[in-house]
Order: sequence, then structure tokens, then C-alpha cells
Amino acid sequence: MKIGVPKEIKANEHRVAITPAGAAALIEAGHEVTVENGAGIGSGFSDEQYMKAGATLSTHAGSIWSQAELIVKVKEPIADEWPHLKKSQIVFTYFHFASNLALTKAHLDSGAICIAYETVEGPSGELPLLAPMSEVAGRMATQEGAKYLERQYGGRGILLGGVPGVAAARVLILGGGIVGKNAAVIASGMGARVTVMDVSIARLRHLDETLPVETLYSSRHNLLEQIKQADLIIGAVLIPGAAAPRLIRRTDLSLMQPGSVIVDVAVDQGGCAETTRPTTHADPVYTVDGVIHYAVANMPGGVPRTSTLALTNATLPYVLELANEGWQRALRENPALKRGLNIASGKITHPAVAESLSLPHVSPESLL
Ligand SMILES: NC(=O)c1ccc[n+]([C@@H]2O[C@H](COP(=O)([O-])OP(=O)(O)OC[C@H]3O[C@@H](n4cnc5c(N)ncnc54)[C@H](O)[C@@H]3O)[C@@H](O)[C@H]2O)c1
Repeated sequence: MKIGVPKEIKANEHRVAITPAGAAALIEAGHEVTVENGAGIGSGFSDEQYMKAGATLSTHAGSIWSQAELIVKVKEPIADEWPHLKKSQIVFTYFHFASNLALTKAHLDSGAICIAYETVEGPSGELPLLAPMSEVAGRMATQEGAKYLERQYGGRGILLGGVPGVAAARVLILGGGIVGKNAAVIASGMGARVTVMDVSIARLRHLDETLPVETLYSSRHNLLEQIKQADLIIGAVLIPGAAAPRLIRRTDLSLMQPGSVIVDVAVDQGGCAETTRPTTHADPVYTVDGVIHYAVANMPGGVPRTSTLALTNATLPYVLELANEGWQRALRENPALKRGLNIASGKITHPAVAESLSLPHVSPESLL
């Protein structure tokens, strides 16, 4: 199959959909891979590395789109890319259709086959192509929190791990899912005193068994006790398909110590503090009532090399399936990949996308 890897052109996106190693694996399986010049630069992969892997380089995004049977990307095609979409072309990327009617209409009109990373779903509801980015964001949350606790960034001037004879910082993690667990791994590894709160006893049990952390049921009463002592709070709650619950109210900030830090990873779902508003890597923090807020909505974008490698580790097996078998057979044989199908032949095939946009849908099976 002819596979195209355009350079990402959405603002501040430095990831690339296929690494040179991934390109080599696809070429070894008998496919042709064309990569746009400079597509890997932001993630530290040179054009020469792609050429050595056997890929063809092209300076023209348009010709990559027009020749490829399968386009592999990171972010949804932006409006400048919509004219390139064509009937029966498979596009495999993060789409997030449910919140974007214009994007959805453009893809419906194109007749392309749109398989969304974010809805590829395993048998127990796990999201294997979202998980790597939650792992990155969780680990990074502790790292960023530790930085902003430093005096020069306005923080309390506390070293996360303390030193012999001086107590370590207290880290409170709200939500013990993938982000929360990864934040806890790094915070406990750095020697901080870590408490994780969740409403799922099963999650708390798992964390209690696997990490040197305290676990606590997430109730308003427990939260108010904890935030008085916390130096760093990491927001990592998720109610799938809904806005994040606003666990920390504005008035609660007065209970916190001046110079303490909230890293609200859940900002992409609205944030779990009432005072959270989205920020960017260029201007990541602001202060409310003496509490530093870090709320970057695309944290993995700050470490594109790690994020590209983590993402492509997860996507490559699916790309191989699509290329080896064609989309219809690959989706028939792999139910997780079938759940990724959002749009095909001008029809929405994912009920949640259709419902969010009040549009009709058909079952994916009817098109396979
Ligand atoms: N900012 C970024 O760059 C970035 C990157 C990746 C993920 N995220 C976001 O981080 C959030 C967490 O993602 P995840 O993959 O860890 O989700 P997850 O589903 O693995 O974990 C969420 C956890 O929150 C818990 N929870 C729900 N309600 C709660 C409450 N009231 N109190 C305490 N815990 C509660 C759930 O039981 C679950 O264990 C999501 O909003 C996700 O979109 C943001």
C-alpha cells in the first residue's frame, strides 16, 4: 500500500506520525512510504534517517496526499489540508470530531475513511492510542510541578524530595488513572510524600499495592483536609465523555499555602479547579490567590521526541494491519480498530460522534 506521512502543520505541533524505524518496518512489509521533507525535524528525526530507512522524501504535501492510499498523521487535518482529502483514502490520526462540526462535515464530504486514534478501544474499554499521551502528561506533571515550586518561578522554594533532616514536599494527586499513576511514579521516585485520591476503590487498591503512596477516597471532606498541606496538587480526574468535576473551588485556594502549585492536567476537559484556564507552552502559568496554576492543554507537545516515540510505538501495529489487509478486512478482524472508525464513505459510523453533533450514523458493520 502507498502510505503518506505529511508534515504536521497545526500550530505548535512538532510530533510526526511515523519514525524512521516505523517507516523501515512498513517498507519491510512490502509497502511504499513517502514522508514530507522536514516532517521529523521537530522530533529529532532527519530526512536522511527516513531515506536510510527506505522511505521516499517529498517536498510537496499535495502530491503526498494525492498519491497515498493511507495517510498517517498526528493531529486532525486543518482547513488548509481539507482540499487534499479524497474518496476512499484512509486517514489515521487523532480527529476529535465530536467537538468540531466543520471538521466533521469536511471529512464527510470528502468520502475518506477516517479512523480516529482516540476511539480505538480495547475489550475492557481501554484506549491504547490515548494512553501513551496520558503517560507522558502524568510524568511531565510532576516534573513541571517540581520546577514551579522553585523560588525563581514564584514557588514556595521547596525541593520535592527534601534532604536528610528536612521533610519532602507533599504531592496530592486527584484521580489515580493513567495520568495520576504516572505522576505518582515520578513524585514518589523523587522522594515526595504522595497521596492519591480517587472515587474508584479498585484504582486505589491497585495504587496501594504497587506504589509507595497513601491512597484516600475522594470526598469533599478529605479534599479540604489535604489541600491545606499540599505543596503540589496534580489534577488528573476524568469522567469519560463529560467535563471534569470542579473539585477545587476558588474559595478553597485560601486554604492552600502561598507559592504552592496546581498542575491541572485535566484542563483539556475543563480542569478540576474552578480557577483553571488553558495555557500554552509559551506562557504556561498564572497565579490566583497566591497559588501557581499550570494548565497546558497539550503537555505532550512539550516533549515531542518522547511523545512521537511513545505514540508511534502504539500506532504502528495498527498501521501495519491497515496496510497489510486493507481497511475493511483489518476492521473486521480487529474489533478495537473497528471502534476507531468514525467516518466512512460520507457517513458517520461512531454513535458518540453522531450524538454530539446531532447527526445520523450507520453501523460500521454496514460498510464492512
Ligand atoms: N493536558 C494534557 O496535555 C493532557 C494529556 C493527556 C491526558 N490529559 C487529561 O488528563 C485527564 C486524566 O486522563 P487519564 O488518562 O488519566 O484518565 P483515566 O480515566 O485513566 O483516569 C481518571 C481517573 O479519575 C478518577 N475520578 C473520576 N472522578 C473523580 C473524582 N471526583 N475524584 C477523584 N478521582 C476521580 C477515575 O476514577 C479515574 O481513575 C483527562 O482529562 C485527560 O484528557 C491531558
